[in-house]
Amino acid sequence: MSSHRGSDQKPETIAITAGRPVVAPDSDLNQPISLNSTFTAGGPIGYGRYGNETWTALETAIGALEGGDTLSYSSGMAAVSAVFSTLPVGAKVVASNQGYSGVMTLLGKLTEAKKICTTLVSIADTNEVITALDGADLLWLESPTNPSLDVADLPALIKAAKSRNIIVAVDNTFATALIQKPLLMGADIVMNSVTKYLAGHSDVILGSLSTNSPEHYKALEDARKFNGSIPGPFEAWLALRGIRTFPLRFQRASENALELAKRLSGHSLVARVRYPGLPTDPQHLKAKEFMNGFGAIVSFEYAGSASATDRVCASSKIITNATSLGGVESLWERRRRWPIESSSVPESLIRISVGCEDVDDLWADIDAALQAGN
Ligand SMILES: Cc1ncc(COP(=O)(O)O)c(C=O)c1O
Repeated sequence: MSSHRGSDQKPETIAITAGRPVVAPDSDLNQPISLNSTFTAGGPIGYGRYGNETWTALETAIGALEGGDTLSYSSGMAAVSAVFSTLPVGAKVVASNQGYSGVMTLLGKLTEAKKICTTLVSIADTNEVITALDGADLLWLESPTNPSLDVADLPALIKAAKSRNIIVAVDNTFATALIQKPLLMGADIVMNSVTKYLAGHSDVILGSLSTNSPEHYKALEDARKFNGSIPGPFEAWLALRGIRTFPLRFQRASENALELAKRLSGHSLVARVRYPGLPTDPQHLKAKEFMNGFGAIVSFEYAGSASATDRVCASSKIITNATSLGGVESLWERRRRWPIESSSVPESLIRISVGCEDVDDLWADIDAALQAGN
C-alpha cells in the first residue's frame, strides 16, 4: 500500500507535489515511464502485472487527494468491475436507478446472471435508500449522477449503511476529491474514472479505487492482478501529468459551468436545466451542506424533439459533439443517442462537460446551436 497519510497540504499543492521521485542531485523531477514487463528477482514488485513505479506515483497522487490508499486500473469500468468481483455470489447490492449507463448495464448483467441481487432506488430520496438497506451487502453510490445530476445525501447514507455493516462504495467521478471526500465521511471505497477530470485532456482511459481498509485493498489488488485489469505505464504517466493542473482546470470549468447554467435557465429554447449549483435546483440545498462546489457538468432539456436536439449538438463550433467529460475542451451530447442510456433520461437531454474556454465564447456557441435546432 502506498502511504497517503501525514499531509495537511491543500489539494492545489498536493496535485503538484505528490508522486514525485525522491529528491537527490540530478534526480528526475517527474516520475519516469517504467516500461518493464518484469523485474530482477528479490524486490517487492516482481512482475509487470503486479506493480509498476509509474502506477505507484499516480496512485500516491490520487491517494493523497482522496485520503486513501489507491490502486489504478485500466479504465473506470475495470475499477468498478473489481469492486463487484470481490462480492460473494448472491450478494445484495443497493444502487441508484439512474447513474452512469456503463455501471447500470454491468449491474443488470451481473443480476441477470444471478451473480448478485440488485435493488435500484431513487438516490435523491434518502428515506427510500435507507429503507432498501436491510440485508444489503454493498451500497453503490454515484453522486452527482450521470447525466441527471441527482445528489445523494452522502453523509446520511454512508452513516446509515455503516451502522448496518454494509460496504459503501462511491463513484466520485463527477464531484472529484476537490468538492467531496467520501472516505472522510466513512465510505469504504472511492472510485474515480481517471479518464475524466484527473487526467483531464481526453487522451487516456484509466480508473482508480481508494480505500483505508487493508482487507478491501488486498481484495481489490488481487482482483487487478488476477483479472489483469492493469493500467499501461504510459497512460499512468499521462494521468499523473494531468493531475498537476487538475485543481486549476476544475475550478475554471466549474465557474464556467455555473455561469452557463444560469444563462441556459433564462433561454427560451431550454425547457429545464439541471446543475446542483443553481439556487433553483431541487438538490441545491442538500448539495450545499456537504459539497465544496458543484462541478462542471450541466444537463439541460432542449425545448424540441430528439432530432431537433441532435441538430443542436451537431451545430456547435467550439463545443464538440462527443461523449465523455472532464477534459479542458467542452463536449456535449444528447445522452439518449446511446441505446443503453436509461429511459428515465429525457430524449431531449443534453449533457455538457464544460471546459476551460472563455465563457462568453462558449455561450455564443451554445446560443447559436440552440437556434440552429429550432
Ligand atoms: C460517472 C462515471 N463512472 C464511471 C465511468 C466509467 O469510466 P471509464 O470510461 O474510464 O471506464 C464513467 C464514464 O463515463 C462515468 O461517467
